[in-house]
Amino acid sequence: MEAGRGALIFSFALSVSFLLLASSASAQLRTDFYKNTCPNVESLVRSAVTQKFQQTFITAQATVRLFFHDCFVRGCDASVIIASPNNNAEKDHPDDLSLPGDGFDTVIRAKAAVDSDPNCRNKVSCADILALATRDAIVITGGPSYAVELGRRDGRISSKASVQHSLPQPFFNLDQLNTIFSKHGLSQTDMIALSGAHTLGVSHCSKFSKRIYGFNSTHRIDPTLNFQYAMQLRQMCPLNVDPRVAIPMDASTFHIFDNAYFKNLQQGKGLFISDQVLYTDPRSRPTVDLFAASETAFRDAFVSAITRLGRVGVLTGSMGEIRIDCSRPN
Ligand code: HEM
Ligand SMILES: *[C@@H]1O[C@H](CO)[C@@H](O)[C@H](O)[C@H]1NC(C)=O
Repeated sequence: MEAGRGALIFSFALSVSFLLLASSASAQLRTDFYKNTCPNVESLVRSAVTQKFQQTFITAQATVRLFFHDCFVRGCDASVIIASPNNNAEKDHPDDLSLPGDGFDTVIRAKAAVDSDPNCRNKVSCADILALATRDAIVITGGPSYAVELGRRDGRISSKASVQHSLPQPFFNLDQLNTIFSKHGLSQTDMIALSGAHTLGVSHCSKFSKRIYGFNSTHRIDPTLNFQYAMQLRQMCPLNVDPRVAIPMDASTFHIFDNAYFKNLQQGKGLFISDQVLYTDPRSRPTVDLFAASETAFRDAFVSAITRLGRVGVLTGSMGEIRIDCSRPN
């Protein structure tokens, strides 16, 4: 009896210390980080994003993708926003060249809105502004709302070289997708939920032209692609199409953040190999079916996944800096 209780207390103490260890990594970010320094930060960012969105709806998709590309390269530290005097910054890498300027502009404008409040001036990081603007963009387009963890600091380094091999490619298979997401502590379910962001926005034809014109030596058209959809894609993206032409990634509702992306996958209407494989591969199909059947299941999984994405490689405490101008280190 006595020994049993001792063992119980010991194992309790052990599990408490494990819990403390496990939580310390993310405990550095807090949803109320600016409670005393800039209590209005959320509404300041939200109104800047709303205003920008009213000028162009591209704001939403541009901001969400910018956040993803920021977090996967050197962590969520706003390094992707740093300007490039020598064409050598993150944003100069081919994988980042298609990031629309409206995403960068959203952060610059939200930063100006935050800094217009004398209490807040130079207290809120560009990395946190991007995280908040991303949530606001998702909400504006009909997606789930969620509390954004804050307290990131801005990085001082932005290099083209660090983008190489950091971002997933549209021709990736499931193993390649899982490998690159797991490097950032994200699970297969997180990866599938986050891919649901392709419910918004557009892609240039070059990103999938192989699938409709020259898949491999036996199939000109990717057999996992819905044939009618493939014909539509050929019409929108003829051979030698103007490289600036971009088409919706969610064939049904590309302005609305919903679970249509997953319903499209069930019909063979995933635009990239990396989209369609989530349904083709039996290991990920059950999750696609779940998200297609339940908007709630998708929204819950998305919130938890983007929260985890927002913790990737963050600088906290006295690391990094609060950038005065989001486009250059202090
Ligand atoms: C799973 C692996 C992923 C791959 C291979 C991938 C790849 C791509 C590609 C190739 C484009 C088209 C770019 C263009 O031609 O302009 C694109 C667009 C986009 N991606 Fe992803 N992506 C992935 C995951 C994500 C994630 C996790 C998010 C955000 C949470 C995201 C958000 C977006 C958005 C919003 C767009 C539309 C951008 C616009 O309209 O300008 N993607 N993605
Ligand atoms: C072409 O792609 C199909 C479908 O993925 C596959 O079954 C086939 O083996 C491929 N053929 C070649 C020659 O790679």
